[in-house]
Amino acid sequence: MPLSVAILISGRGSNMKALADYAAKDDVPAKITLVLADKPADGLNTADEMGIPTIVIAADDYGSKTDHEAAVMKAIDASGANVVFLAGYMRLLSGDFCRHYQDRLFNIHPSLLPRHKGLDTHAKAIAAGDKTHGCSVHLVTEAMDDGTVLAQQVVDVLEDDTAETLGARVLKAEHLLYPALLNGLATKRLVIKNGIPIRFTHSIRHTHPTLLTQ
Ligand code: GRF
Repeated sequence: MPLSVAILISGRGSNMKALADYAAKDDVPAKITLVLADKPADGLNTADEMGIPTIVIAADDYGSKTDHEAAVMKAIDASGANVVFLAGYMRLLSGDFCRHYQDRLFNIHPSLLPRHKGLDTHAKAIAAGDKTHGCSVHLVTEAMDDGTVLAQQVVDVLEDDTAETLGARVLKAEHLLYPALLNGLATKRLVIKNGIPIRFTHSIRHTHPTLLTQ
C-alpha cells in the first residue's frame, strides 16, 4: 500500500509541486490524496493540473478556529491520508489538531531551526551575519516552527547575498529536502514513534546525487 499524503497550502505551492512530482515517480510508494488550502491559493491550480483532488476550506467561513480545524480534519481523513505535509500553510494549529495527527504531521521551514522561526528568515540570517542558512523539516506542535527537527539541508550564505538570492537557493533545497523526507516515510526508512524518529537511514544525496552543486 502506498503512503497516502495530504498537503496543506496557503499560497503558490512550490513545495507541494515538488512533493507531487516526486510521488508521481513510478518507484515511489506514495500518493497525494488531497491538496487542501485555507483560502484560494495559486497552488490549487497546479494540483488541479496534476489531477490531484483539491479543496478550499476557508477559515473565514467558520465561526471559530475549532470549527475550521474540525472541517480540515474531516476532509483530510475522508481523503484516506496517512500523513499530512504542511507546505506554506500559514496557520498555527491547535494542540488537538496536532495530537490527532501525532507522528504524522510535518512542516518545512526556511531556516536551520531552532534559528530564525517565523517570517523573513532569509533577511534574518543575513542580518545576523550567519555563514550558513538552510531549511528544516520538523514535526508540528502547537508552538510556531517548533517540534522535533527530522532533517535539514544547509545552504551557504554568500558575501553578496540578498534575502532574495539566498531565499531562491534555500527554496531549491526545500524542493529536495521535503521529497527526501517523503521518501523516508514511504519506504519506512523513517519511522516516528511518540515524537521521536527511531530510524532514518536515508540521505537526500542518494535520491538527488546532483544536490545543490550550483
Ligand atoms: C516555503 O519557503 C516554506 O518553507 C514556508 O513557506 C514557503 C512556502 O512556499 N513554510 P511554497 O508555497 O511551497 O512555494
